[in-house]
Amino acid sequence: MESEKTITDEVQAALPVLYQSYGKRHDSLIPILQGIQNKLKYIPKEAISIIAKELSMYESDIYGVITFYTQFRLSPVGQHIIKLCKGTACHVGGAETVGEAVSEILKINENETSAGNKFTLEYVACLGCCSLAPVMMIDNKVYAHLTKDKIKKILEEY
Ligand code: FES
Repeated sequence: MESEKTITDEVQAALPVLYQSYGKRHDSLIPILQGIQNKLKYIPKEAISIIAKELSMYESDIYGVITFYTQFRLSPVGQHIIKLCKGTACHVGGAETVGEAVSEILKINENETSAGNKFTLEYVACLGCCSLAPVMMIDNKVYAHLTKDKIKKILEEY
């Protein structure tokens, strides 16, 4: 029977391709981290220590970069990521009620993952489609003009 892949195995399988595309230099760090996050949905600590060794960098410097950019995540997420906009237009359009509805249905708050690892809820500043407010994204799909009722139906689709 084939043994289960560890996080380290997955990181080590992903890195050669990323080095090939971006090089193995200090200035390739951000695209390499993005590549790892695209694959695993977060950047595991195992990846940081491997990358630090291979790029001859300090782990603390890599953590510095990760925590500077809000796009990076250091903990695992659910199967689907909900990005709920709390920008001005969405706020005015009722984002708070929408957020409460999501939290109530999934029983999670910001940056938490629902039971069964299905959804992770994140709040973002602006999704860039303010005329559709209030808006959220699930993975790469945008949902517009949200209401409490719409939220329920949308989440049931998953
Ligand atoms: S404020 Fe929500 S999309 Fe811009």
